[in-house]
Amino acid sequence: RGAPPTVVVIFGASGDLTARKLIPAVYNLGVDGLLPADFYLVGYGRKPIPDDEFRGLAAEAIKEFSRRELVPAVWDRLAARTSYVAGGYDERPAFDRLAQHLAEIEKQLGRPLQTLFYISTPPSVFAPIIANLGASGLAARYVGEPHQAKVIVEKPFGKDLASARALNATLRGVFEEHQVYRIDHYLGKETVQDLLVQRFANAIFEPLWNRNFIDNVQITVAEEVGVGSRGGYYEQSGALRDMIQNHTMQLLALTAMEPPVSLGAESIRDEKVKLLKAIQPLDLGPNGDVARAQYGAGMTGGRKVRGYLEEEGIAANSATETYAALRLSINNWRWQGVPFYLRSGKRMARRVSEIAINFKRPPGTLFAAGDEFDLAANTLSFQIQPDEGLGVILNAKVPGLETRTQPVKMSFRYATTFGSNTPEAYERLVLDAMVGDGTLFIRGDETEASWRLCTPVLEAWAAAGPQGMDTYPAGSWGPPAAETLLARNGHHWRKP
Ligand code: BG6
Repeated sequence: RGAPPTVVVIFGASGDLTARKLIPAVYNLGVDGLLPADFYLVGYGRKPIPDDEFRGLAAEAIKEFSRRELVPAVWDRLAARTSYVAGGYDERPAFDRLAQHLAEIEKQLGRPLQTLFYISTPPSVFAPIIANLGASGLAARYVGEPHQAKVIVEKPFGKDLASARALNATLRGVFEEHQVYRIDHYLGKETVQDLLVQRFANAIFEPLWNRNFIDNVQITVAEEVGVGSRGGYYEQSGALRDMIQNHTMQLLALTAMEPPVSLGAESIRDEKVKLLKAIQPLDLGPNGDVARAQYGAGMTGGRKVRGYLEEEGIAANSATETYAALRLSINNWRWQGVPFYLRSGKRMARRVSEIAINFKRPPGTLFAAGDEFDLAANTLSFQIQPDEGLGVILNAKVPGLETRTQPVKMSFRYATTFGSNTPEAYERLVLDAMVGDGTLFIRGDETEASWRLCTPVLEAWAAAGPQGMDTYPAGSWGPPAAETLLARNGHHWRKP
């Protein structure tokens, strides 16, 4: 999987994501020998930063955030090929300066480079950047050749269906779809990729993977952290936009889609789109399919924390949800009648992301639930993070002379089998984009299908304002409204 000689240009180079994820990802690819021999990194941002200072900041970022220590031999080589260009995002001439800078690098090197633009800025400047990449001719670098330019677009990809469509149209005006890599970093997580392997490389799951055997599916993406210093961003976003529309829906699509005809990017994305389109519009009425809430004060990790409304940068009457749960019905042959429950929240009891497949109960002819028989429905759970692995809940006989049963857990843990120093999601994704593999990125129609489902919910919530907002104590598993959502079908949330 060799990448051609490449220059990565990061827009938003002095931002948080660049320091926390992007620079460490590039560095670790370097440590693993996965960068092309001719690799360059160019930071672009509004703030004027001398090259040397930018290299210093990058080194600091590696020391603080990389999963591996800074090895001078690797870093020195990368640092020598790292530079910085200052300019505004809507400043046309600055993009000409960038073009000139890239041309100079190529001239010195004596060969052309594939350019990978990474847009990691606040979303308000996505469109001007894309427009300027078009107007300056940068987007058309080496068009039609193997080292044609590409662009990675960070989240959030729009804030509703209309803005996502508009952003797609802006991209289409400048790039071909195959040049565009819309990121959802959950797709780069090792365990998310493993989901496809588990489903399709094993013969025992697929025959059971349908409405005949599965009772309900629960997807949880819970975080222990609160909004922290990101209040300004989060107030405009909320749990549905920040986590459900993208990360959780992607987990759902991979869990529920039909087997793709190949592992190629288009085959997999075709199946995901088909699945997303089969989800029925949500009932937004009083006893409908959605629940939202804000965290109140409480305890996490053994310390007292304040409620969302008391956090920095949050309006006292904020109507932004920090927790959202949905009940989805998928109207296709495989899943009709099987509820899919999705939930995500900040300040929950602990950080855990999992997909739990709850099977139907066996007929109770021999071991009906009762005093001696503590029967559980079988559950297959994919632990996305932390404690990556797979677990199955089975009923087993308790040793002894009388027959008693008890649910037991059989589990496989990544760390035990494979060790724990796995690559971070961004390493995989940056490499895939360099190589030109779009499998783990979101296609334009896919993001629109997901927004189509979520937008009416956002509109209903915006219209209601804070009215009807439930609360949950920080450090809990969510609000009562989310329990009610499942109780209506006789279900309850699994405790991960
Ligand atoms: C981001 C959200 O996309 O994902 C954050 O904007 C969230 O609010 C983060 O904290 C969670 O990612 P991870 O990889 O830590 O689960």
